[in-house]
Amino acid sequence: MTENFNCGSEQHRRPGECSAGPGEAQWVTGIDHELAFWDHWLATRGDRWPQDFTKRLDPQLPVEERVAAVLREIPRDHLKVLDVGAGPLTVLGKVMPGKTLEITAVDPLADAYNALIDRHGITPPVRTRKGFGEQLHELFAPGTFDLAHAQNCLDHGIDPLTAFRNMLDMIRPDGRVLLFHRENEGIEENYAGFHQWNFTERDGAFIIGARDGTEVNVDDALRGIADVETRRVNGCLLTVLRRVAVAVAANE
Ligand SMILES: C[S@@+](CC[C@H](N)C(=O)[O-])C[C@H]1O[C@@H](n2cnc3c(N)ncnc32)[C@H](O)[C@@H]1O
Repeated sequence: MTENFNCGSEQHRRPGECSAGPGEAQWVTGIDHELAFWDHWLATRGDRWPQDFTKRLDPQLPVEERVAAVLREIPRDHLKVLDVGAGPLTVLGKVMPGKTLEITAVDPLADAYNALIDRHGITPPVRTRKGFGEQLHELFAPGTFDLAHAQNCLDHGIDPLTAFRNMLDMIRPDGRVLLFHRENEGIEENYAGFHQWNFTERDGAFIIGARDGTEVNVDDALRGIADVETRRVNGCLLTVLRRVAVAVAANE
């Protein structure tokens, strides 16, 4: 696994049982697996990935180039960044030359993660707060952030397209949404626990696939709202969403 540039899922590969299709009831069954993984990871200071653990605690960690490249497109020096599905310790770097970053991390399991962090005597540079990608409007006003980021998490969610739309709502008009996920996690993980969705790219478009074979073309679904750019990087899908400018009528 490439320490600096991966979408992280390798750390979460574990056997599990198949179960019914996606939805909230299915999602709940994934909680124990997720918490057990992170409890062990925190207790062992990163398990097989000690560098990853150390980096996440480093307040001087440079922001990853894939993130920096997008942040450079935004013409402000102080940038507010939202990490959705951040886990107990956001993976995002904390510093970037010429910019100051203000990172907010959210995750549905934040309360349990924070209890684990405290139990294991860890002081996080950014403490994750509770929130679903599907319910960001309950936490933040639209247009609060410059960048909304999600890595290896929204294919663990209940309704990825809603989470993408919410992330677009959370950014300023010239902000960005950056998604970084492995392809076809549902298939790869045998639909265990949180892994109910398959993300892939086809003919340049970002596709969300459900276990029953139904698909949503995200480029089509967001047409007129955002431009969607997807490419494969190190075996993962890197997707940038840019909001489409809304034309204002001449007599307004
Ligand atoms: C494999 S971990 C990845 C954490 C972190 N992004 C990383 O790369 O290390 C997946 C995370 O997605 C979170 N998650 C699951 N469903 C979610 C949802 N609907 N909205 C946001 N995050 C969700 C889980 O709680 C879990 O912390």
